[in-house]
Amino acid sequence: MNDGFAVRAEALEKRYGAKRALDSFDLAVREGTVHGLLGPNGAGKTTAVRILSTLLRLDGGRATVAGLDVARQPREVRARIGLTGQYAAVDEVLTGRQNLEMFGRLFHLGRRRAADRATELLEQFDLTDAADKGVGAYSGGMRRRLDLAASMILAPAVLFLDEPTTGLDPRSRGEVWESVRALVAGGTTVLLTTQYLEEADKLASRITVIDQGRAIADDTPDGLKGLVGGDRIEVVVAARSEIPRAVKVVSRVSDGEPESDDEELRVHAPVTDRVGALTEVARTLQDEGVRVEDIGLRRPSLDDVFLRLTGHRTETTQKETAA
Ligand SMILES: Nc1ncnc2c1ncn2[C@@H]1O[C@H](COP(=O)(O)OP(=O)(O)OP(=O)(O)O)[C@@H](O)[C@H]1O
Ligand SMILES: [Mg+2]
Repeated sequence: MNDGFAVRAEALEKRYGAKRALDSFDLAVREGTVHGLLGPNGAGKTTAVRILSTLLRLDGGRATVAGLDVARQPREVRARIGLTGQYAAVDEVLTGRQNLEMFGRLFHLGRRRAADRATELLEQFDLTDAADKGVGAYSGGMRRRLDLAASMILAPAVLFLDEPTTGLDPRSRGEVWESVRALVAGGTTVLLTTQYLEEADKLASRITVIDQGRAIADDTPDGLKGLVGGDRIEVVVAARSEIPRAVKVVSRVSDGEPESDDEELRVHAPVTDRVGALTEVARTLQDEGVRVEDIGLRRPSLDDVFLRLTGHRTETTQKETAA
């Protein structure tokens, strides 16, 4: 019995020596949804995915996938899942098409069916032009798409995607997102790990935030954003030298200390009276001759949520913010 949950983990434990990679980790993924597992480097995302996909033994707790116990029924679990690992599993020597045909044959598709499926997937992942080139000559993004295509050969009931878009350019990333959405529309449940806050927000209907092997939050994207409460006013100035004056202006209307980002030339702070704050800040900045590129209100991001939950920013976030 799975009670409408495609994946359930209760108090999972995994230790590497003294290191607790998973520390009483809980997870519940509803059937037919994309569930985001969001966390920074080393949080335990890959460990969780490897346990749930039966590649790694758990040290404690219990997990089911498609209603089957991963420790007691690993073969049955494997028949119902697909997995895209964090690192590409495709063969360098073969072409993209040969890789997909090979995976198709491994999954017992007949020669004809494997070839047709390969063609479909190459098309879906925009690899048709490169289909007959050796994978050794593929870019990182192309490899990633091929790897994803390989995990989708049988359109599995549950698909685990471990950081499927890490290293992809924005266009390829968008294409992967589209494929994931199409897959879920076709009935597959997806557990997607990511360090990209935007990705979890865009794709997932529910998000578990993992930090140091524990689930520190489990909520909808909107619910998580609600944790940090309210909107923020955001001012982007024209030069770094303008930041101190912008901070001063913003602090007059904000409910908390403004924060600033020297790289992005951004000053932001929480506000309650949206329109009042926006109007006053815009007017005062103009009166004082502060050179402004942009000014606006924004809803809290998952980045803000992570900071609130853990007291620290993620490494990824710092990189994203600086980019
Ligand atoms: N085979 C291993 N031996 C020892 N320690 C390990 C091993 N695999 C993972 N760990 C440790 O367990 C913790 C969780 O690692 P895991 O790979 O699950 O994190 P992650 O969330 O997937 O990180 P990333 O975002 O970098 O992929 C880390 O501290 C990691 O160093
Ligand atoms: Mg990982």
